[in-house]
Amino acid sequence: MTNQVTLTQFIIEQQRGLPEASGTFTLLLNNIVTACKQISHRVNCGALIGVLGSAESENVQGEVQKLDIITNDIMVRALDWSGSLGGMASEEINDPIQIPKQYPKGKYLVLFDPLDGSSNIDINLTVGTIFSILRCREGVEPEPEDFLRKGSEQVCAGFVLYGPSTMLVLTTGNGVNGFTLDQDVGEFILTHCNMKIPEDASEFAINMSNQRFWEAPIKRYVDECVAGSDGPRERDFNMRWVASLVAEVYRILNRGGVFMYPFDLRDPAKPGKLRLLYEANPMAFIIEQAGGACSTGRERVLDVKPTSIHQRVPLILGSKNEVERIVGYHRDTDGAA
Ligand code: AHG
Ligand code: MN
Ligand code: MN
Repeated sequence: MTNQVTLTQFIIEQQRGLPEASGTFTLLLNNIVTACKQISHRVNCGALIGVLGSAESENVQGEVQKLDIITNDIMVRALDWSGSLGGMASEEINDPIQIPKQYPKGKYLVLFDPLDGSSNIDINLTVGTIFSILRCREGVEPEPEDFLRKGSEQVCAGFVLYGPSTMLVLTTGNGVNGFTLDQDVGEFILTHCNMKIPEDASEFAINMSNQRFWEAPIKRYVDECVAGSDGPRERDFNMRWVASLVAEVYRILNRGGVFMYPFDLRDPAKPGKLRLLYEANPMAFIIEQAGGACSTGRERVLDVKPTSIHQRVPLILGSKNEVERIVGYHRDTDGAA
């Protein structure tokens, strides 16, 4: 048998280096991983257990099930009893989720998107779960404001990808590592050590159907990519759009590129589509830890001070030199205005 490192071994060995580590974080991560294995199983079973076919479908008992909600409940049930959390916040639930009275409260907050890329579920394409961990004041009920912390305060962020294989990508602020689920044994095994994003890339991801709503800097960047070797970039670019942030980020971690869900002019109440606390922040932490960059176009994502738990932000992430170029195009436009 080869010398495989399991996720549990990896985390325990990392925590050993920290004198203040009490094992609570390891327990919390284990619980998140257990929930994600359960979600992976549900997603894999698909139509066999009646949760696929459409995001909202009927099971054999004739009950309506929505997979976003089922996966949300799996996360909550796996985490609320553990004593490691002061509270949770989910993309699917309006208010922060309180820890039931009968359980002790702990020193962390978890914020999550239980099912990312959910429009892909009925066509059997990649979906995922994204999570972000913050420290909190111990022993007190967190106020809604306790969740409104800059991404730079995260102690851990990760996502699980339910694709051809189930993978976990994780950072605790000390690089990024990828683990593949061994379905036979039920363990995540370290398979992608110290992931690094190439600084340059020739692949971009954006939903082109929104083109008419973009601002000038995004139009300029995409026009230049499309012009390829005939344009100012003097090389050809390739385009991808999976409509699943987890899949786009995983691709970028492996071969570079840039992902954009930029500011657009459709609805002033929505300065972007993706959610700061459940999507942009955890992905920004991972991307920066892998040597990439992540911006709204005008501000580093990890520096954005949240004002509400379901806040949306423009999101541009990926290979450092490409993201910096796009940020520069925003500066050019704003400076000329
Ligand atoms: P969610 O399924 O959690 O609502 O997130 C979907 C997000 C993200 O994963 C993806 O990048 C984007 O929405 C796709 O948006 P379009 O459908 O507008 O392309
Ligand atoms: Mn999402
Ligand atoms: Mn979601």
